Amino acid sequence: MKLNVTLIQRVSVGFILTWLIYQIYTTITRTDGQVDLTPWLAPIVWEGTFNPKLIDSIYKQQNITVAMTVFALGKYTVFLQDFLESAEQHFFVGFRVHYYVFTDHPEKVPDVKLGGERKLILMTVNSSSRWQEMSLGRMKRLEMLIESGLVNDADYLFSLDVDTKFYGRWGAETLGDLIGVIHAWYYSSPCVLFPYERRPESQAFIPYSEGDYYYGGAVLGGSVKCVYQLAKSCREQLDIDAAKSIEAAWQEESHLNKYFLYNKPSKLLSPEYSWDDQKTKPREIKIIRFSQVLKNYAEVRPNT
Ligand SMILES: *[C@@H]1O[C@H](CO)[C@@H](O)[C@H](O)[C@H]1NC(C)=O
Ligand SMILES: *[C@@H]1O[C@H](CO)[C@@H](O)[C@H](O)[C@H]1NC(C)=O
Repeated sequence: MKLNVTLIQRVSVGFILTWLIYQIYTTITRTDGQVDLTPWLAPIVWEGTFNPKLIDSIYKQQNITVAMTVFALGKYTVFLQDFLESAEQHFFVGFRVHYYVFTDHPEKVPDVKLGGERKLILMTVNSSSRWQEMSLGRMKRLEMLIESGLVNDADYLFSLDVDTKFYGRWGAETLGDLIGVIHAWYYSSPCVLFPYERRPESQAFIPYSEGDYYYGGAVLGGSVKCVYQLAKSCREQLDIDAAKSIEAAWQEESHLNKYFLYNKPSKLLSPEYSWDDQKTKPREIKIIRFSQVLKNYAEVRPNT
């Protein structure tokens, strides 16, 4: 009897030790400690979490069209050449892609050679004198574009910042109903340090007790229907703030963060999809796919 208990104890200790070693091993070998699921079980897309060929082939069979809007207002047209050329190399290569380029200087839109089944639609808009207004106007323009029916032929819609460049693959792994990107500067920060709008007077207000991720304003996407709901809701909140002469801390990005807090994205893109050229690549980031380019604000902004 005594011998049996000892045996059970030895087996238990052996089991616990094996389990511990296994836990330590998986923690170390896991995508360098990166979490790849949100607390609401939405995937977070990191290099190594998907098979690029497989996921592209699944969406190819569905014969999808991907629309993308980009806003090149004022002096921001200088970024279009690199943006479009690098998109042709990396963004949904082999898919049907429609670029909607919003600009107040159509004559400055470069003539970039596009692949088969890819086209650029010029959307001419009026000039705005303040860069903050250019940002504030994006949601409204997105809402109007979708209402116009112009993107009805698209299955998915992305809206990306123009002062950026693609450095790596951006494909079907990024598709989903509602897509947000984790901000490159805050992916390892605790919530209380996020630069959410903290003044209760603003519609973008998020108290210190809430929040899960800080999303970058440079990237949003999803199905056309979900992007429409997002754009409409953010535009309405921006209008309420404007009527009270309140401008949220990070304008549209603050309202986007508020929206995503209560309308959780179905998929999150890791900061690989929205890096910043000013930020050196740490070891845990395996690849930079899309990044804000260095710029001289004084040169590109009409006012500061
Ligand atoms: C794929 O979609 C395009 C555009 O919507 C359409 O013209 C084409 O016929 C479709 N191809 C197939 C095989 O369904
Ligand atoms: C551009 O501005 C002019 C004059 O302010 C106005 O008449 C016109 O409707 C505007 N166009 C657009 C597309 O907003």
